[in-house]
Amino acid sequence: MEEPEQIFQQVFQYFTQSGRLSGKRVLISAGPTYEPIDPVRFIGNHSSGRMGFALAEAAAEQGADVTLVTGPTALSTRHPGICRLDVTTAAEMFQACSNAFPDQDICIMSAAVADYTPENPAPEKIKKNSEALNLHLVKTRDILASLGQQKRDDQVLVGFALETENELENAKHKLHTKRADLIVLNSLRTEGAGFRTATNQVTMLTKGGHLSESTLKSKEDIAGDILDMVCKIMNHEVE
Ligand code: CTP
Repeated sequence: MEEPEQIFQQVFQYFTQSGRLSGKRVLISAGPTYEPIDPVRFIGNHSSGRMGFALAEAAAEQGADVTLVTGPTALSTRHPGICRLDVTTAAEMFQACSNAFPDQDICIMSAAVADYTPENPAPEKIKKNSEALNLHLVKTRDILASLGQQKRDDQVLVGFALETENELENAKHKLHTKRADLIVLNSLRTEGAGFRTATNQVTMLTKGGHLSESTLKSKEDIAGDILDMVCKIMNHEVE
């Protein structure tokens, strides 16, 4: 049984937060990208898209007009305030995000974009004629970094980072080189966090050096924490 004070706080929170993004346009990238090798094979990754979809639902619930650019995923969207654009490759995601960017107030790049793609995908299925097969890969364009270059002062740009060593140092470097306002560092060390899980644990690092660490919680709750921080940055409460 919850205490009346707790109930009052929840109701208060509901009314003060529910419309706080109304009138705001939010762009979110989610999921993996698939880079074609030939017509039947691709290079992909384990991203489920859950974090990005949770962010899209949370932002829409808070009144935002959301554009969700997503790579291949089994997830579906619920809120009518979400405009979903399905893409497959890193190049398609780059195009969709770049087109949408100028009209946005907030951009959260949570997709696990392929860093490399086959230079010349084979037009027909590759036959196993030889003992070894070399694929020549070329770098994809970095969407977050490109948006960072074009960013206006009134836009808030958020990136994600997944590191296996020197986590904070690398995340700080990413924050500055990609010109983001906030980096959300995914922990790989905590059991229950990361790819293919319903929960996550993150450290948020702002441009001004503000650091906050979450506990292990549902991706929906993490999405709420990220949007809290984005609102603080937007309202100049945190640098
Ligand atoms: N990202 C992107 N476009 C790419 C690659 C990454 O927009 N082509 C974004 C991701 O969506 C994420 C952030 O960049 O928000 C960090 O991605 P990550 O793969 O961790 O970093 P990299 O740029 O690949 O750097 P490194 O290889 O040094 O880890």
